[in-house]
Amino acid sequence: VSPFAPRHLLSIADLTPAELTTLVRNAYQHKHTIKSGSVPKNLLGTLTGKTVAMTFSKRSTRTRISTEGAVVTMGGHPMFLGKDDIQLGVNESLYDTSVVISSMVSCIVARVGPHSDVADLAKHSTAPVINALSDLYHPLQTIADFLTMHEAFPSTSSPHRGAGLGLEGLKVAWVGDANNVLFDLAIGAAKLGVDVSVATPEGYAIPRSMREIIDAAAASAPKAGRLIETTVPEEAVKDADVIVTDTWVSMGQEEEKAKRIKAFEGFQVTSELAERGGAKQGWKFMHCLPRHAEEVSDEVFYSPRSLVFKEAENRLWAAISALEGFVANKGKIE
Ligand code: CP
Ligand code: NVA
Repeated sequence: VSPFAPRHLLSIADLTPAELTTLVRNAYQHKHTIKSGSVPKNLLGTLTGKTVAMTFSKRSTRTRISTEGAVVTMGGHPMFLGKDDIQLGVNESLYDTSVVISSMVSCIVARVGPHSDVADLAKHSTAPVINALSDLYHPLQTIADFLTMHEAFPSTSSPHRGAGLGLEGLKVAWVGDANNVLFDLAIGAAKLGVDVSVATPEGYAIPRSMREIIDAAAASAPKAGRLIETTVPEEAVKDADVIVTDTWVSMGQEEEKAKRIKAFEGFQVTSELAERGGAKQGWKFMHCLPRHAEEVSDEVFYSPRSLVFKEAENRLWAAISALEGFVANKGKIE
C-alpha cells in the first residue's frame, strides 16, 4: 500500500468507535446549522472544483439523492453514472475503470452487487471510495440510523452523552432478513454499546463469517453492545427500544422472492408482535426503505412510532458528514 493511498469507507468496520461517533455528531451539527439557515463555515466550499463519481449498478432513491445533494451543498459536482452509462461490467474491467475514474475525480461513491466489486474498486483507486451499498454493507445508512436514534432517544441515561452519542444500553430488535443493512448496523451497535437482538427464520441467520466480523468489532470497543440471535420474533422484541426491519428480498434476490416470502411468514412487524413480545412501551420503528407491506404493517409504518421518514432525511446529513470526513478531510475524522 502506498503511503498516499486514500482512506476508503467500505463498511462501518473501517471506523473506530470514536470515528463513528464523530461522523454521527458532525452529521447532527451540520443538520442543525444548515436547517437554521446558516452554512457551516467548516463545510462551505470544501468540495469546490471537485467531482464525485457515483457509479451505481442498482436502483436508488435515497442514496442517490442524498449523495448528489451533499456534494452540491459542499460546492462540488456529482456525476451520476448508472450501469448503462459507462463501460464497466460490459466492456471494461473493474481494474481499468477504477484507475481511469479515480484519475479524474476526488471520490467514487459506488453501489455494487458483490462486496468484492467495491473492495476491488477501492484497491486500485487513487481517490477515496465510499460504499453506497454492497451485498454485505451499507455504511451511509448506518450513520443515518445512529443519527436517527441519537435524536429519538435524547434521554437515554448515559454518563457519556456529553462526548458520545448517549446510546449505550439502548436495545435494538431486528426482525427479518439478516442482510447488508443489518450487518453494518450490528457492527456499529457493537462499537457504540448498543444491544441488538436479531430474529431470522431458520436458514436465514447471520452467516458465521459475518458473525465473526461483528464479534471482532465488539472485542475492539471500549464498551461493547451485545448481539443475541433467535428464530423467534417475540424473543427478539422483548424490552426493545427500537424495532427495525428491511425488505425480505434484497436487490439481486428477486428470483428467490416466492421462497423468501414463505420462509418469513410470521416475521411481519406489527403492534401485536411488539405487545406479545413485550417491547418497551415507547418503542420506535425504523426501516431503511424502500418498504414493502409484507415486512411491516401500515399501522406501524405510518404511526407516530415510526421514524422512517426522519431516517430517510438523515441520509442527507450522513452523506455530508461522510464526504467531509473521507474527501474534504482526507480520512481524518475528528
Ligand atoms: N435506503 C436506501 O439505501 O435506499 P435507496 O436504495 O433508495 O438508495
Ligand atoms: N437490503 C436492501 C437495502 C436497500 C437499500 C437491498 O440490498 O436491496
